[in-house]
Amino acid sequence: MMRSESPVTQQDADDNDFLDTVCAALRQHPRSIPPKFFYDAQGSQLFDLICTTPEYYPTRTETGILQRHGAQMVELIGKDCVLIELGSGSATKTPLLLQHLDSAAEYVPIDICEPHLLQSTARLQTMYPEVRMHPLCADYTRMPALPESVEGRGRHVVFFPGSTIGNCNPDEAVALLRHVATLVGEDGGLLLGVDCKKSPAILNAAYNDAAGHTAAFNINLLERMQRELGAELDVEQFEHYAYYNAGLGRIEMHLISRCAQNITIGDETFHFEAGESLHTENSYKYNAQEFQRLARAAGWHLKTTWRDADGYFEVHYLSRRATEPHHLPQRS
Ligand code: AVJ
Repeated sequence: MMRSESPVTQQDADDNDFLDTVCAALRQHPRSIPPKFFYDAQGSQLFDLICTTPEYYPTRTETGILQRHGAQMVELIGKDCVLIELGSGSATKTPLLLQHLDSAAEYVPIDICEPHLLQSTARLQTMYPEVRMHPLCADYTRMPALPESVEGRGRHVVFFPGSTIGNCNPDEAVALLRHVATLVGEDGGLLLGVDCKKSPAILNAAYNDAAGHTAAFNINLLERMQRELGAELDVEQFEHYAYYNAGLGRIEMHLISRCAQNITIGDETFHFEAGESLHTENSYKYNAQEFQRLARAAGWHLKTTWRDADGYFEVHYLSRRATEPHHLPQRS
């Protein structure tokens, strides 16, 4: 029996989001644009390719942690919870939790890319027909409302894997974690993946894979500007640049102009000097202690942390409540 609903799309106000944001980004100096615009259909596919490269360790490392500890994680979040996934994309890790949930559980995948959302929800629904699924096509950074059908259901738990929280600067991360706290309510939980600080050589390689998928993913932003905005620009004259900024504890991705040139969109022209950058992404890295400080500031209690043997990646379980009566270990 298929129980997934047709997706709710919250895009009405977003129609000019890409145009307005790109033009605003190109008018300012230094130039920067939020990374969510990477994820059109092509960009979402390129991201999936990045995840298969030997250099990009986060996906396989987090998958390993979920494989090993998924059952314990579900014991803590509750087998009958409403699981809300932010930026679900291809949702390749979700089965590692869904397989342990029971038939009272519900699943709300939220993603900005509709084709990806539909495809992955259909696949998961076939694998777990008894879990009710409510796909929501929305930009989770815009704080979408949950479908009404999950109101008053089981305990709300947000699943936010992949270290996507790293796209936020620390202040934005606290704001997002506070929003998630409101979304799940005073009984709610949060299971999220965080990429840890480590040797710059490993970090730099992860964002400069030899196959060039990360470069293609970055450059796709310019191609998307051509496709959707009719932007006039020479893609070949921009270079992918990613490096670990140790002082700020983040990977930075930029598109660097190889020469003096213009980008034209409609009747507006934007000049780039040779070497000038369009900053396209930050990916912050936090150790458990650093992350705990952010989580506390947002009203969360860190309950459990799981990590791989190398200490490359951590999955944290957080709760709104300081103590969880149902989940405390049995005392004799
Ligand atoms: C999806 C934000 C977690 O920062 O590692 C991968 C995106 N960018 N390679 C990350 C990304 C370049 C990824 N996140």
